Amino acid sequence: MNVLLLGSGGREHAIAYKIAQSKLLDNLFIAPGNGGTNFLGKNTNLDVADFDAISKFINDQNINMLVVGPEIPLAEGITDFLAPIHKELMIIGPSQQGAMLESSKEFSKQFMIKHKIPTAQYKSFSKAILNDGYNFLETLKPPYVLKADGLAAGKGVIIAETLEEAKLSLKEMLEDEKFGKSSERVVVEEFLHGIELSVFVITDGENYLMLPEAKDYKRIGEGDTGLNTGGMGSVSPVPFANHEFMQKVEEKVILPTIKGLQKENIDYTGFIFFGLMNCNGEPYVIEYNCRMGDPETESVFPRIKSDILEIFTAAAKKQLDYTRIEIDTRTVATVMLVSNGYPNSYNKGMEINIENNAGLIFHAGTKIDEKGNLIANGGRVITATAFGNSVSDAFENAYNLADKINFDNKYLRYDLGKDLI
Ligand code: AMP
Ligand code: GLY
Repeated sequence: MNVLLLGSGGREHAIAYKIAQSKLLDNLFIAPGNGGTNFLGKNTNLDVADFDAISKFINDQNINMLVVGPEIPLAEGITDFLAPIHKELMIIGPSQQGAMLESSKEFSKQFMIKHKIPTAQYKSFSKAILNDGYNFLETLKPPYVLKADGLAAGKGVIIAETLEEAKLSLKEMLEDEKFGKSSERVVVEEFLHGIELSVFVITDGENYLMLPEAKDYKRIGEGDTGLNTGGMGSVSPVPFANHEFMQKVEEKVILPTIKGLQKENIDYTGFIFFGLMNCNGEPYVIEYNCRMGDPETESVFPRIKSDILEIFTAAAKKQLDYTRIEIDTRTVATVMLVSNGYPNSYNKGMEINIENNAGLIFHAGTKIDEKGNLIANGGRVITATAFGNSVSDAFENAYNLADKINFDNKYLRYDLGKDLI
């Protein structure tokens, strides 16, 4: 079959890597792709938000399956737009309404409360009722969690240490539109204490398959300090996500979510990413995403031993109840190599040198320049990903691999995984 994969990050490189291994694949196109995906398929200059151009490409290239990597085209309704035009096209990515699990915090909180899915207590506010917001904040204990309702490129959450700071942030979000239209509504919620992990399923709307869980490292600095980033590394599996905990996750979170989607007649074929907090052994949902995580995918997808296009096909045909997924029991660790200065200002354009046959590498922000050289093209540049027999073994292998990838201003965290050992 012919597959079009949308996106350009490390997540899409890791998805492309599995698709390229499938015996069902004829041609793989990645739009727009990056310097790494080009070796697995054909990079294609399409804008992921230009649905007309994507539709034309699907016709011209006889595309049988569309896999949507990032959330924005989903939130903008790509699935609803294409499905009626391309009746035979298999689409891995939910409807616009399904994507609201991610694109509206208010919607996702209401969904969780309605379907009795454990999550932090909350209230939501608009500019007109700013004072009610202040009053609600006064009833909570610090720290305070404020979330812009809409998509804000991962930046829409503020954790305020003091009541004063929280009130100021609420005002800035609602009155001063700190996150533009995204913060016209703000969810204020109780702070959850615990350890985070990311759980993933692929669903056809009725049935689901569990993918391996993962942990990501969000902060730029060692010891989880400094600014939030798009992710500095990840590891799968997560040692504290033992059988007992994962059973609670399925019973209390995943099953009620899938049943909730069915009850509300929400069409959903694709990934659900559950951002969870483990609070004393009990799972709470911090957020839903309608896509895979990045950089979690770079550690999760290499562990999938099954043919990924068989799984995607079963999802698109609503046959996941007849499908099994085989997972590698080894650990995979991913270290993100970034351009020094990220997530503030940083340089691009540095040439990247990789030793021959170095290992498993996913490109995040790279491209091939006019001279044919591989260059850095983003803050998060490239990953070093490795298998191992434990968290420490896998990270040791990933760090050895990171030494074989060189570019000016390379920065990485050397403490990943230590919190789990
Ligand atoms: P989100 O964009 O919803 O994933 O939030 C970003 C980050 O803020 C999460 O990964 C958590 O680390 C943190 N966070 C969000 N909500 C809460 C909460 N209710 N309690 C504690 N931490 C939270
Ligand atoms: N790694 C978190 C995310 O993809 O949203």
